[in-house]
Amino acid sequence: MGEWVEVATVGECPPGTLLEAVVGESIVVVANVDGEFYALDGICAHQGGPLASGDLAGCTLTCPWHGWQYDIRTGRQLLSESICQTVYRARESGGTIQIEIPAPS
Ligand code: FES
Repeated sequence: MGEWVEVATVGECPPGTLLEAVVGESIVVVANVDGEFYALDGICAHQGGPLASGDLAGCTLTCPWHGWQYDIRTGRQLLSESICQTVYRARESGGTIQIEIPAPS
């Protein structure tokens, strides 16, 4: 079981938007899809683009640098099944967005 940390208020990430947060030692992109929160490794697997500066359309996150697209729910790159961003658990609690830092394995 990991540790849940607050990264923002709900108001800072309205539906259809992205937010960058630092969670532990990682940069994470947080997405609000119709009131559900999702979080992935915020650094694109291609060449390190900042995913929080990308576009969110439904559950599809598009990297701002060269257009790689990911499913925000699963972290999977849409054209290559073998490429997958780390997924973080996200939740709303008391008006804040919380992300789980995974327990060390
Ligand atoms: S760095 Fe994200 S698509 Fe190239």
